[in-house]
Amino acid sequence: MKKIIAIYPGSFDPVTNGHLDLIHRGCKLFDRLIVAVAQNRDKGGSLFSVKERMEMLRAMTAELDNVSIDAFEGLLMSYCIDKHANAVLRGIRAVSDYEFELQMALMNRKIEPSIETVFMMPAEKYSYLSSRIVREIAWFGGPLTGLVPDVVEQHLRRRITEKRGEIAAIPTK
Ligand code: PNS
Repeated sequence: MKKIIAIYPGSFDPVTNGHLDLIHRGCKLFDRLIVAVAQNRDKGGSLFSVKERMEMLRAMTAELDNVSIDAFEGLLMSYCIDKHANAVLRGIRAVSDYEFELQMALMNRKIEPSIETVFMMPAEKYSYLSSRIVREIAWFGGPLTGLVPDVVEQHLRRRITEKRGEIAAIPTK
């Protein structure tokens, strides 16, 4: 029988409980799930390096036998072909996600019609959760309980402290 290999691409800066919820759902549906960190946006604006994001994802998914962590650069469809993947997994939290996700799925289909995008919904409790909001809460020292795993929270607190130190060290004149 044909094996379904799916790619779950994203920035994962950092991985949230919403991403992990989707990974747990996805790995039950697909024979193999490759969580792929996009390198394209790692041009200074990210909180964590691609390597750090991959390490956090690896630690959080270690017990899932059919899940692996990777990174990719360039077009997602080229990466999918390279990995012999037949599907792309993306999460849809609310209607607001739909327009962008539809555009991306249809453009990806135009680039490579043999690969299907599969949308899954994370648990409702994560429907308002995003890496961007997590970064913002962490920056202002707000509570992260239930939003990210404890290990990720520790990494976030440490990185924010470093960043704040870097900013404080910049001479004002
Ligand atoms: O977590 P994100 O930031 O929503 O992930 C977006 C991502 C990385 C999946 C998307 O930007 C992507 O696939 N980038 C790779 C470049 C590419 O293939 N672009 C064309 C997509 S239509």
